[in-house]
Amino acid sequence: MAKLQYFLPALAAFCLLAAGIAAGAKDVEFHVQGRVYCDNCRAGFETNITEYLPGATVRLECQSFFNDTVAHLMEGVTDADGYFRLAVPSDHEEEICYVKLIESPRADCAEVKENRERARVLLTENSGQSNSVRYANNLGFLKEQPLPVCAELLKIYKLDDETGY
Ligand SMILES: *[C@@H]1O[C@H](CO)[C@@H](O)[C@H](O)[C@H]1NC(C)=O
Ligand SMILES: *[C@@H]1O[C@H](CO)[C@@H](O)[C@H](O)[C@H]1NC(C)=O
Repeated sequence: MAKLQYFLPALAAFCLLAAGIAAGAKDVEFHVQGRVYCDNCRAGFETNITEYLPGATVRLECQSFFNDTVAHLMEGVTDADGYFRLAVPSDHEEEICYVKLIESPRADCAEVKENRERARVLLTENSGQSNSVRYANNLGFLKEQPLPVCAELLKIYKLDDETGY
């Protein structure tokens, strides 16, 4: 009987803990992060003269695996350094989710190219990523006219690419 005195409180504590974990698991949020830039060379990638855009609007959308329903989950606006951070509930295992460019703060850098204006994010817990932060690829609006310096710069980037590592 003496042992039961210790066992019961321990069992109760364990049950509380287990219940807490189970409840907590449902409340897990993902923190989707990324950055929005102005592709001022119209290069399709970031360069060392890329400008990051504060005040750009992005939207998180998820499309069902089973039908064409697209849920617009939330929108966010980039901070002074062009970063966005979206807190998303973690129940999207049967959906394809992506962050999408919605609005640029700059009229001269507001063009989007189809399929380049969005970045996939995996919002499932069994994605092999252990924490709740999900990094989306950075997204760029295209500048109307590439900066004059880009011609030279892109040559160098191309050379780097060909000579490899
Ligand atoms: C960007 O990189 C190129 C090539 O390495 C270099 O010539 C140029 O000075 C750099 N520009 C800036 C602003 O860092
Ligand atoms: C689409 O599929 C989701 C499940 O992924 C379901 O919840 C939703 O009701 C479906 N929508 C339509 C219009 O069938």
